[in-house]
Amino acid sequence: RALPTFAIMSGRHDTAAGIARVYRGSFVHSTRDAALEILNDFVLGVDKSGKITFIEEGKNVDRLAQEQGFNTADVENLGPDEFFMPGMVDTHIHASQYTYMGTALDLPLLQWLNTYTFPVESRYQDLKFARDVYTKVVKRTLRNGTTTACYFATIHTDASLLLGQIADDLGQRALVGKVCMDINPMVPQYKELLDESKDETLRFIRELLQKKYPRVKPVVTPRFAVSCSSSLLDALGEIARSNGLHIQSHISENKEEVELVKQLFPDCLSYTDVYLKHGLLTDKTVMAHGCHLTDEELKIFHKNGASISHCPSSNISLMSGILNVRNVQKHKVKLGLGTDVAGGYSASILDAVRRAIDTSKVLTIEHPQLRPLTFEEVFWLATLGGSEALSLDDRIGNFEVGKDFDALRVNVSVPGGPLDVFPEDVLKVIVEKFLNLGDDRNIVEVYVAGRKAVPFSGKE
Ligand code: GUN
Ligand code: ZN
Repeated sequence: RALPTFAIMSGRHDTAAGIARVYRGSFVHSTRDAALEILNDFVLGVDKSGKITFIEEGKNVDRLAQEQGFNTADVENLGPDEFFMPGMVDTHIHASQYTYMGTALDLPLLQWLNTYTFPVESRYQDLKFARDVYTKVVKRTLRNGTTTACYFATIHTDASLLLGQIADDLGQRALVGKVCMDINPMVPQYKELLDESKDETLRFIRELLQKKYPRVKPVVTPRFAVSCSSSLLDALGEIARSNGLHIQSHISENKEEVELVKQLFPDCLSYTDVYLKHGLLTDKTVMAHGCHLTDEELKIFHKNGASISHCPSSNISLMSGILNVRNVQKHKVKLGLGTDVAGGYSASILDAVRRAIDTSKVLTIEHPQLRPLTFEEVFWLATLGGSEALSLDDRIGNFEVGKDFDALRVNVSVPGGPLDVFPEDVLKVIVEKFLNLGDDRNIVEVYVAGRKAVPFSGKE
């Protein structure tokens, strides 16, 4: 494209047209080098496509205004008790289980699935029911600061497409999975035939991609090895490969499940080997839980670039196990946080942050040589770590120039809010208080790709 002469000379008009918003105040985020970088009095610009164009010290605002072509009077100043942090990433959540979140936490995994989960999930052929639940879960997670969610829906293609549409409408970034399962002896009305599962997965992918939602994409979703035949796993691996798609499933959540997988796949060396042999362990794969993975399996994860979603609330609630995050880190396996609603009883990643710290401390009680996770490390898991786990770290995860502005405007002093700050509290302390004590009342605005998703605009 030929630029007008003046633009070449000043380099200005090219970007000037693009700046949509400029904010000045406190920012906190993770970088490659620092789990928590504290930026007091910074100024950040967002262009019309929602990308971050600059982030610099506040004292540079006049020069930036000149260079970037904005008016300093239009800069939006954050209040003294406010900061921006990157939007949080929920790397594993079952949108379809939202109806019974906070209940039914009295059984271990396999019994829990048969008793509570499958009967509820079988209801989603009813699109009216699906619309109601999916609207509520997308709104609830957005309000709680989840700017990116990696969703399991159900086996129903049309309801799963509806979840994609609702996420797009409400402005949430999402990976959406139509669940695939062709084995279910205990609740036989909730499963697919092999060919049906393949065909409907292809239809789901085709129709969702045809919508051209900019931030909502399909993810290939075998439920777990227990409920999928080897033929189905093979087919899904091939579908993911030929379309370059993300993959999600569950792995080594509970010991009974691990034993069952051994019996069901006697030719495979391990649970990880089942997914590997079926082409389902790639650098775009995220596997939930992984509590009982061996070191050998973690090495295979690392080698293939696959990641783990740490779902501590669910791991405790369903009495599944405790993920040793230090060992995952030692093996350099990518890791993010998941709520795993409704195995986990909270839709907020802040809850996952707290459970992750608590469970790491439980491990430290048992194994004093294991250092507990710090709040800075878990902040990283909730943001940049989650973006890496979903292979979206080239677009989101922190406030790097060129990334999308997915952000939470946090105010720690909202009237009637859940925490108090004191004059001596520096920003780092305020962030720690928010992570441990804050909730959606403190998340006063949520941005996804520069667009304000929360508060909701009237039409929703
Ligand atoms: N494993 C297979 N399906 C599920 C599910 O819906 N929730 C959890 N937590 N684990 C699973
Ligand atoms: Zn799950």
